[in-house]
Amino acid sequence: MSDSILWCREGAHIAILGATGAVGREMIRCVDTLKLPVRKVDLLASARSAGKSLSTPWGSLTVHDAGHFDFRGVDIVLCSAGKSVSLALADRIVSAGALMIDNTSAFRRDPKWPLVVPEVNGHLIALKPGIIANPNCSTIQMVLALKALDDAVGIDDVRVATYQSCSGAGQKGMDALLTETRDALAGHRHDTSAVHARGIAFDVVPQIGAFLDSGFTEEEDKMMFETQKILDRPDLRVCATCVRVPVMRCHSEVVSLNTRKEISVQEAASILDEMPGLRVTDMQSPDAYPTATQAQDHFDTFIGRIRKDPVANHGLIFWIVSDNLLKGAALNAVQIACSAWNQGRMESTHE
Ligand code: A2P
Repeated sequence: MSDSILWCREGAHIAILGATGAVGREMIRCVDTLKLPVRKVDLLASARSAGKSLSTPWGSLTVHDAGHFDFRGVDIVLCSAGKSVSLALADRIVSAGALMIDNTSAFRRDPKWPLVVPEVNGHLIALKPGIIANPNCSTIQMVLALKALDDAVGIDDVRVATYQSCSGAGQKGMDALLTETRDALAGHRHDTSAVHARGIAFDVVPQIGAFLDSGFTEEEDKMMFETQKILDRPDLRVCATCVRVPVMRCHSEVVSLNTRKEISVQEAASILDEMPGLRVTDMQSPDAYPTATQAQDHFDTFIGRIRKDPVANHGLIFWIVSDNLLKGAALNAVQIACSAWNQGRMESTHE
């Protein structure tokens, strides 16, 4: 195994694992839009998809079975095929010398590997064989705002309630929303769902993932742990309630927090608006708050309804919306890839 892949100056050889899925398809688009220089792209999925052709910005490409793929020579593997697939393939990917950017929860808690949102802790990105974990979708959008406020005035504690779209469960999550809604309109309401914790048509479901002994769900536990790790604030108290709503795409959240120092709504709005990747939409007019359908297909994360929380000392409360398939998944992963690649190229030119 080579210790470095800095020699690849003319463009990266990348592989996209889960290329036929909801996030994988967005990864393909983001690689093109962010202009990650590529010299070769391999699309990988399950054996079911092997041999299929996908139309891509680089022409029509054949999908390969990830289980039989030889990762030697690949510089960066973008993974979004589920936790068990990442766990099964990680050793092969890393020992072949590639950087694995993993969108699943498989390695997020492993202290050996960084958990990265480039605008927040991008200094942890390096182009070398190993793993960089891409955080949970609902965590990414929130930590952008928390980082800006924590740097400015310090944050003591955070409470968040999410309104998470069905695409958080992948293509099958979106398919389930459509099928269950059509069936409900035809008079047959599903109490259970093949994908979501309960039937999702015309309902909101306060369960994403299994329940833990603490009473929190897996999704809530991810948000609480990952926020501390990304911000490098193990002392930060975070309390999450995660809810699935019958929205196709984009996650919305209500975040309330206590700051260490007093901060006005106007100051908070300017600090948040200046954070790369964040935009406050309703500074001129209060009804210009963002919504899920408006945020869809955008790279930015949108904030509105910033208010003082009247039941806290230095409390702030706001509404934050982001495209979970983009900044919450594919875009963040590809931003990591671009940053790693550019950094590797700079280092190689200084050798
Ligand atoms: P496939 O289309 O062949 O099933 P989503 O999150 O939208 O459900 O997408 C999941 C992605 O993960 C798809 O590209 C899917 O490929 C891929 N995938 C699922 N199981 C495996 C597996 N065992 N090996 C490789 N890729 C897999």
